[in-house]
This record gives sequence, C-alpha cells and structure tokens, in this order.
Amino acid sequence: MTAPDEPAEMASPVCYASEFEDYFRPPPLAGDELVSFLNVLLESERAGARVLARWCHEAAPDAGVTAETLGAVRDDEARYCAGLTDHLRRLGAEPSHATGRFFDKAMTIAAWPDRLRFLDKGQSWVAREIREKLPRIADADLAAFLREMLDRHEHNLKLCAPPA
Ligand SMILES: [Fe+2]
Repeated sequence: MTAPDEPAEMASPVCYASEFEDYFRPPPLAGDELVSFLNVLLESERAGARVLARWCHEAAPDAGVTAETLGAVRDDEARYCAGLTDHLRRLGAEPSHATGRFFDKAMTIAAWPDRLRFLDKGQSWVAREIREKLPRIADADLAAFLREMLDRHEHNLKLCAPPA
C-alpha cells in the first residue's frame, strides 16, 4: 500500500503538457456569442463598404491612394458582408441589417490623411478581432472564411496605409 505522502506516479511529460494545453484552451465560440461576433463584423464591413463607396469617388491626387484601390477594398468589404450574411443564415441566425457607427464618424472627416488614418483604425480593429477569435472557431468552413478575411484585411491595410 502507498503511504499518502509518497509521490504518486506521474503521467509522461508529453501527456501532461497536452492536458495542460487542453485546460487553458479557450472554449469554442458558440450560440449567441458567435452570432454576436459575426453580426458585429457584418455591421463593420457594411460601414466600410458604404464609406469606401463614397470615398472612392473623392480620391483627390493628394489622397495617397488611388480611386481604383479604394474601389477594390470597397468590393472586398461588400464580399465579406455577403459571406457573413450567408454564414449567419447557415448557422440558423438572423443577419443584422444595421450599419456600424464607423460610417457616421467617417462622414465627418474631410481631409485625406485623416480619412486614411480612420480607415486604418477600423480595418485594424476588424483584423485584431478576427485574429483573437479565430482559434475559438470550431466550424471549419467559417474558420476558412475568416482566415481569408483576415489575410485580405492585412493586405488591404498595407495598400491603404496612412502617411507616417
Ligand atoms: Fe473591413
């Protein structure tokens, strides 16, 4: 019989490390939390698409970015609106019809360097949100969609980088 103060036999270090990781792995995003996350992204992308639909017609020579680039980013934002809507419906949820507050704030900004800085802030926020939540997305199709959305946002952030 083993005395209570004798060390118990431990699992192998590899096994132990795996249990440790499982313990600290955040739970998958599900239910209302997942729907809310996707709807916030949808509202943000809708705001981005609407802002860029305006700004791509106002790209002055000193804008630091061409109308074509802004139009391409607008198209990406619109594509993510459609994709997020499809994923929400597939998950049995109601897609939001609201537009993020980013739109109203953006419409008050007239100078181009400030517009690019504001766009950069909004797109960086979206990228950060996806980067943080991606490890918690269990649905493979949704994870692949969000991965592509993150990569594209990182690419577009470089294309529309504001002046230093
Ligand atoms: Fe975006």
